[in-house]
Amino acid sequence: MHETKEKHDFEPKIVAFVCTWCTYAGADLAGTSRLHYPSNVRVLKFPCTGRIDPVFILRAFQRGADGVLVSGCHPGDCHYMAGNLHARRRFAAFRGLLDFVGVDLNRLQFSWVSAAEGGKWVEVVTDLTERIRAMGPMEEFKALETEECWSGELNSPELQEAYNNI
Ligand code: FES
Repeated sequence: MHETKEKHDFEPKIVAFVCTWCTYAGADLAGTSRLHYPSNVRVLKFPCTGRIDPVFILRAFQRGADGVLVSGCHPGDCHYMAGNLHARRRFAAFRGLLDFVGVDLNRLQFSWVSAAEGGKWVEVVTDLTERIRAMGPMEEFKALETEECWSGELNSPELQEAYNNI
């Protein structure tokens, strides 16, 4: 009973790492089209999903995210040729590591959302938010220190500010 109430009251914090060319533009389209979707997602944009270091995801979980979304251009549409395909391969391997350190893989989602797919962005964000809400807060990973895994690139002012606000 107590647990049910906790989940009912729980508002998940979700971090979305998106490429600026497709998914960010799709999210922007959803906003300008006045489509409604949960406000639980904090969006961080990158030039390409190929630029998103898996350690960013670890860091997001460590800093308090309950779920993480990575989304970019559809296969064949990447503005840097094959960055999204490299990212897909990298994250497929990375999922094994997350599983190893105890992160429920249902807390991490990958998707393709184009600049024209504002509706799909709404669908992805809504489904992920509901899934994470049903799972409850992410507690398992927050106490782990991964500073030694950090690359200096993660200390950019933009990322630091975003993480500090999670
Ligand atoms: S530019 Fe969007 S995934 Fe590469």
